[in-house]
Amino acid sequence: MYPALQNELANYQKRTPRSHDAHQRAMSRVPIGVASNYRYYPPYPLFVRDGKGSRIHDIDGNEYIDHNLCYGALFAGHRHPAVMKAVEEQLQVGTLYGMPHGMELELADLICERFPVEMVRFGNSGSEVTMHSLRLARSVTGRSKIIKMEGGYHGGHDAISVSVKPKEGQFGDPDHPTPVVSSAGVLKGTSDATLVAPFNNLTAVERLFDEHRDQIAAVIVEPIMMNIAFCMPDEGYLQQLAAVTRKNGAMFIMDEVKTGGKLAYGGACEYFNVKPDILCLGKSIGGGFSLAAFAASRSVMDVIAQQKMFHAGTYNTNPTVMAAGIATFRHVLTREAFEHVSKLNTRLLDGYQQTIKKTGLIGYADGAGANGALMFYPHRVRNYRDWYHVDEDIWTHYWFAMTNRGVLPQPYWWDEQWTISVQHTEKDIDEHLQVFAEIAPGLAAAQEERMTVGPLGTHAS
Ligand SMILES: Cc1ncc(COP(=O)(O)O)c(C=O)c1O
Repeated sequence: MYPALQNELANYQKRTPRSHDAHQRAMSRVPIGVASNYRYYPPYPLFVRDGKGSRIHDIDGNEYIDHNLCYGALFAGHRHPAVMKAVEEQLQVGTLYGMPHGMELELADLICERFPVEMVRFGNSGSEVTMHSLRLARSVTGRSKIIKMEGGYHGGHDAISVSVKPKEGQFGDPDHPTPVVSSAGVLKGTSDATLVAPFNNLTAVERLFDEHRDQIAAVIVEPIMMNIAFCMPDEGYLQQLAAVTRKNGAMFIMDEVKTGGKLAYGGACEYFNVKPDILCLGKSIGGGFSLAAFAASRSVMDVIAQQKMFHAGTYNTNPTVMAAGIATFRHVLTREAFEHVSKLNTRLLDGYQQTIKKTGLIGYADGAGANGALMFYPHRVRNYRDWYHVDEDIWTHYWFAMTNRGVLPQPYWWDEQWTISVQHTEKDIDEHLQVFAEIAPGLAAAQEERMTVGPLGTHAS
């Protein structure tokens, strides 16, 4: 760790003693002191006091422009008035029934109006719906195996806990990656059925279909890979991937848990003009409440309608969350809102690029819809193996330097990206850019110094 980075870490610790203490206490009862492994980072995570609009306060009272936004689940921003009103009204009526109430159809209609699907089932998290989407594909095709992309994240269940962050020495041939199980406790029989392909590489997928003829039920893909910060599909890649998948009798699953409520009005389906066999939605569709959905054509969903495939959940379509979801679709995820956020994102991306050019930083900013990221890599990342070599120390320096100056530029970890909410303003973006312009010369100097010592990219973790 170099001195400028050490200084930023020391400053972070000086500004946030209460977060430090809260984390110390939490660790006595909660493993690593957090409820989701991603939330931990060294030396300790910020603990949040409150959030409103585009901003949050930590428990030391420091204010931040928030581009973490719960890992992209808050396109609505904090406490969006229309969502709050709907939820407050629903709280007066009932919070949980475990019985149908009519809002299922209302929200399913809203989803089917904007995505190319005909029937919807709801859940509470992205993990849940990607898990059920795979079961759906297996039920329809009668096959077991699936293909996922190397570096892709679709939640925490066993079938996709493979090659999420595989390491050098494990991950094998870049064109024919070795599947690497990413957690202890994953059932071998389940993970053995998961095959891994590099993103943006059709030949690799075709080869897997040849090697496992008539055994593959589905290809699951995140249309823009956002578990490696921000990685765009090549022109035409998604359409061709869908075609290859269908040609081989498998289902094309688009995991739009992140893109669905943030990339465009009709998600990646609209943005890239591609139609999935099964669609997964989550995060931002709930406006700050835990809502997720999987959806497909009538004929695919028929296995559930015929009660051949089981899907259930006590909290599914709980009325509080459904009220939030309906308000979100009607008042937050509007065409005007996507236009507003997309304009802000262009402003942010352009500003980053200008500062990068001016300071000679090696890297680039990439983004679309509400998301983007600063990538410390000399050219556009096309897959996990490219991303694997981003400079982690410089990124860490960037994150703490921005955070110490009141801008949470994105969630911690360099595999994440920023989100802009409908409640962010031009002023927020300009403040963000001002802080970046302030710290960028220091980053460029550190980068140059490190380049003279060793190659770009450290990958210590
Ligand atoms: C693309 C994608 N799919 C699925 C998930 C899992 O969603 P959840 O954390 O709500 O279970 C995530 C979470 O980050 C995700 O990014």
